[in-house]
Amino acid sequence: MDADSTLSNLLNEDRRFAPSDAFAAAANVGADVYDVSDRLAFWDQQARRLQWRQDWSEVLDWSKAPFASWFVGGRLNVTESCLDRHVAAGNGNRAALIFEGEPGDSSTITYAELLAEVSRAAHAITELGVKTGDRVAIYMPLIPEAVVAMLACARVGAVHSVVFGGFSAEALRSRIEDAGAVMVITADGGYRRGSAFPLKHAVDEAVEDSPTVRNVVVVRRTGQDVAWSERDVWWHDVVDRQAPTHVCEAFDSEHPLFILYTSGTTGKPKGIKHTCGGYLTQAAYTHWAVFDLKPETDVYWCTADIGWVTGHSYVVYGPLANGATQVIYEGTPDTPHQGRWWEIVAKHKVSILYTAPTAIRTFMKWGDHIPAEHDLSSLRVLGSVGEPINPEAWMWYREHIGGDRCPVVDTWWQTETGAIMISPLPGVTHAKPGSAMSPLPGIGATVVDDHGEPVGRGHGGYLVLTEPWPSMLRGIWGDDQRYVDTYWSRWPGRYFAGDGAKYDEDGAIWLLGRVDDVMNVSGHRISTTEVESALVAHPAVAEAAVVGANDDVTGQAIVAFVILRQGHQEDENIVERLRAHVAHEIGAIARPKRVLIVTELPKTRSGKIMRRLLRDVAENRGLGDVTTLADPAVMRLISEGLSAGTAEDE
Ligand code: WT7
Repeated sequence: MDADSTLSNLLNEDRRFAPSDAFAAAANVGADVYDVSDRLAFWDQQARRLQWRQDWSEVLDWSKAPFASWFVGGRLNVTESCLDRHVAAGNGNRAALIFEGEPGDSSTITYAELLAEVSRAAHAITELGVKTGDRVAIYMPLIPEAVVAMLACARVGAVHSVVFGGFSAEALRSRIEDAGAVMVITADGGYRRGSAFPLKHAVDEAVEDSPTVRNVVVVRRTGQDVAWSERDVWWHDVVDRQAPTHVCEAFDSEHPLFILYTSGTTGKPKGIKHTCGGYLTQAAYTHWAVFDLKPETDVYWCTADIGWVTGHSYVVYGPLANGATQVIYEGTPDTPHQGRWWEIVAKHKVSILYTAPTAIRTFMKWGDHIPAEHDLSSLRVLGSVGEPINPEAWMWYREHIGGDRCPVVDTWWQTETGAIMISPLPGVTHAKPGSAMSPLPGIGATVVDDHGEPVGRGHGGYLVLTEPWPSMLRGIWGDDQRYVDTYWSRWPGRYFAGDGAKYDEDGAIWLLGRVDDVMNVSGHRISTTEVESALVAHPAVAEAAVVGANDDVTGQAIVAFVILRQGHQEDENIVERLRAHVAHEIGAIARPKRVLIVTELPKTRSGKIMRRLLRDVAENRGLGDVTTLADPAVMRLISEGLSAGTAEDE
């Protein structure tokens, strides 16, 4: 992000939006919640929202910091909290999932039905040899079976690793290998932008030489032809014939629940590890408090895919633990028309909507008239997540989607934090457009300078978390040292989130984007190094440098500067080829928006690429300070070379 212009914009933002008196009076959480004086007592109380088989002896054991144990000795099966107890309480007929397929197919699955299906799937994966502690990769479109697959793993104590369906076969392969997965659950394909896309073939490629994967279980979603091998099993063949009841075991509070890979500053994604008790406690509490969930009457819709942490915490675990009724939608917002989302909101009377700034900015671009054609009067709370939301987008969301009556909650958190950390509370906070406002009760966060000293109001620096929290990551799969180095070494005792932030004069927190070499494209983290590695793996590329440039819709866009090898300079299609190559290596979300062919890259005397200068070029700004460049003429060379021939997307 361009921190300077952002900072000055923020200094001018003094609008505030308070909840209506009626909203505040009926809210789940009131202002007194901020009086928490004993954090551990607070979380102890929140953990009691869940169903435990055995109580804990201690709320937090931090003696092995930064490795935490929460609810020490407690035992639970997270699916009992998400399913069985709702059925036992007489809510079996409540809709759990209202599924909208992209082609227009729709179905409703009650809590009783979901419990039965998860039970069948739990039997099925057990029959196929999956044991407690085994890792299962899930590579699926957003269909009910994806939720069932995750919960079936949780029910038998297997650790799921969901890999976003847009990732490449290679990305899937490396994640399967890193986790040593014994099974992959996938589908033949899914629907997107009006047509069926394939998934199974990428799994075939990914597991071809896998020494660990014994079975690939395949949901039939599209009916398209798929290649078949001995390890493949149709979901309907193995799941449908199982018993609909399943007696489940309770696991230790610290039993691993899932791994989710996210990009770091190196080329190798990190397997973020989450466990059961603390994770579900914070996912459930925040979902109830931040969205003011009333499970009997609300219809909740989080638009995230299950391939991201938002889909884990706010599609699967949080909402189901709270007995919510929710919509899940398989496809894209403009299929078959740009009003699809608003049609879904009107059809199901959605009352809570949780989405990302990139989507909001896309709708702004499509025009006010599109949401205006639909009845959005059922909405009462709006949430945002994934990247900083600019005040204009926040205001548009509030006015054009929320009818100027719904509180907007801008929620800051990460794959690593597991659940929301910094956010307004809709019935309490007088929210400012674009600010995540303040840490939730029970959460410790502050902004520090280079020396780790807290900055005062009106100042910016780095966001840190000052206290352990229940849904914190428990480490990086297979690499404890990287966990310590990445998050806990910069300022001992403090978790470094990788984000820049600022306190305004009122003490509200404004997130300013990543401060490391991680880009945020449409709310998704992609490391510059990962894209650079993919590029230099191409035979035509000698050297590559990648930056995230500001983009009106996607937040940041990937811009690659590439030096070609001898003999490839004449290739006219090289830019397109390189873009396709990155998409093939990592996934379509990593396809560079622009590839700029250059003859030099700006480097410091020690050889480090000066991405700041490349960002200036990518954002068409005048050049900043070039005095630390080894060769100050380089930037002129780059700029001149570029005006001779650049290539851009769309
Ligand atoms: C990074 C985490 C949290 C689920 C989705 C992304 C950025 C996230 C906000 C927000 C400003 C935000 C941060 C963070 N981010 N939410 N409300 N305001 N920035 O999860 O892929 O782990 O990415 O997303 O930079 O570090 P993720």
